[in-house]
Amino acid sequence: MKIYNNIEQLREAIKNAERPIGLVPTMGFLHQGHLALINQAKKYNKTVIVTIFVNPTQFGPNEDYEKYPRDIDHDINLLKSLETNFVFIPERESLYTENHNTWVNVEKLDEKLEGHFRPNHFKGVATIVLKLLNITTPDNAYFGQKDAQQVQIIKQMVADLNLSIKINSIPTVREYDGLALSSRNVYLTKDERKSAKEIYQSLLLAQTLFEKGINNAEIIKKNVSDHIIKNIKNSKIDYVSITQESSLEDLQTIKDSALLSIAVHVGKTRLIDNLILSKK
Ligand code: PAJ
Repeated sequence: MKIYNNIEQLREAIKNAERPIGLVPTMGFLHQGHLALINQAKKYNKTVIVTIFVNPTQFGPNEDYEKYPRDIDHDINLLKSLETNFVFIPERESLYTENHNTWVNVEKLDEKLEGHFRPNHFKGVATIVLKLLNITTPDNAYFGQKDAQQVQIIKQMVADLNLSIKINSIPTVREYDGLALSSRNVYLTKDERKSAKEIYQSLLLAQTLFEKGINNAEIIKKNVSDHIIKNIKNSKIDYVSITQESSLEDLQTIKDSALLSIAVHVGKTRLIDNLILSKK
């Protein structure tokens, strides 16, 4: 495994790398969710590149950029054990010079769901992902369904800008009790962590209602919200949404399937999760 901090040195190494190349962009503090992406990349590519960069431009002014969890040594050991080929850990200054003035806006999709509560978040995400794609020139890139909106935005960007890269999305990896793995789960207190499993329970409740024949989105959303408020102390819901999966347009009635997305504050920690509601 080779570790690069320098863009030019990485580019040079990639010139001689065997294709196909698979890219897994991350912000580090790696967990089993990230590992699932890397394992998928290993399956279908000769060379796997993992990037670790806590991207400042996707955090709002009052968000957790400074205190976002970091443990580079742990990450590197984990990546070594997976036999990752290249790890790219750039400095902030090498990706964002003082003159950085170009941004990628994936319009419409970036206003919905997370975009409403985190203005400019997806501008930061799309910009850094395009930069990483340009630096690493992969054939495949891997993203988690945990961040369903992020996947759609990257897919739209790749289509709109005619990039010749396949975007692959990987199912959400969960803890034993259903909580979606997230680097931010470490912020939860013991009690909050216990009750946070109810987020997934609320998604399952929605799936059960849908299977029973309830296809009115308002009714399902109300049941999901009630479940969360009742079962998670100190919770505050940002949204419970039922949308079409790729356009993220709200649905009133669910036909065959829909994306159910949730953002909820558990104490001071903001968590997101989602499930595709579908007829079994
Ligand atoms: P990060 O939160 O580190 O996540 C890196 C990748 O891992 C993303 O594609 C994310 O969806 C995926 N992931 C996170 N938790 C997961 C889980 N429980 N199951 C499956 N996949 C999971 O997402 C980002 O970083 C950044 O926005 C990034 C794309 C790197 C751009 O800065």
